[in-house]
Amino acid sequence: MTEKREKKAVKIHEVVKWPDPILLKPGAPVTVFDAKLKKLVEEMFESMYEAQGIGLAAPQISISQRLTVIDVSFKKNPEEKIVLVNPVIIEKEGKQVEEEGCLSLPDIREKVTRAERVKVRAQDVNGEWFEMEGTELLARAMQHEIDHLDGVLFIDRLSRLKRDLVIRKIKKQIKNGEW
Ligand code: NI
Repeated sequence: MTEKREKKAVKIHEVVKWPDPILLKPGAPVTVFDAKLKKLVEEMFESMYEAQGIGLAAPQISISQRLTVIDVSFKKNPEEKIVLVNPVIIEKEGKQVEEEGCLSLPDIREKVTRAERVKVRAQDVNGEWFEMEGTELLARAMQHEIDHLDGVLFIDRLSRLKRDLVIRKIKKQIKNGEW
């Protein structure tokens, strides 16, 4: 049996790169939970997959709001698609040090220290509050994406020396038209 389904076109948003000022300021809380928000969430997932990412925050597509999507399974498990609206980290435990990247900092990868386990309180697309825990990669993604909503990038979590080196490298690429 075959199912014929018309594939509707979902808008793919451009991911902005550092040092776009929208990435460096905190997003505003989401206050309206309507069809437009649901559509935006769908567009964010598609834009994230298109960019080969496992997490995307609204400021990265030039929308300065406290909204992020995560899928650490990268399309493999629909149950791992997570939408966090106005998220807050309410518990943090342990420590993990792993390499991290960001769609707004293409080809930059550095080791970042994060909590091993976090508990997050957030709203869903309908405005319902919920709590969820994450460990390992999911905990890392949650911390990385929630940082974006505060105008913080992973390079801000590096040592001063390391951060300066990365920024110098990026500035050189910008100058050479390679960024
Ligand atoms: Ni990022």
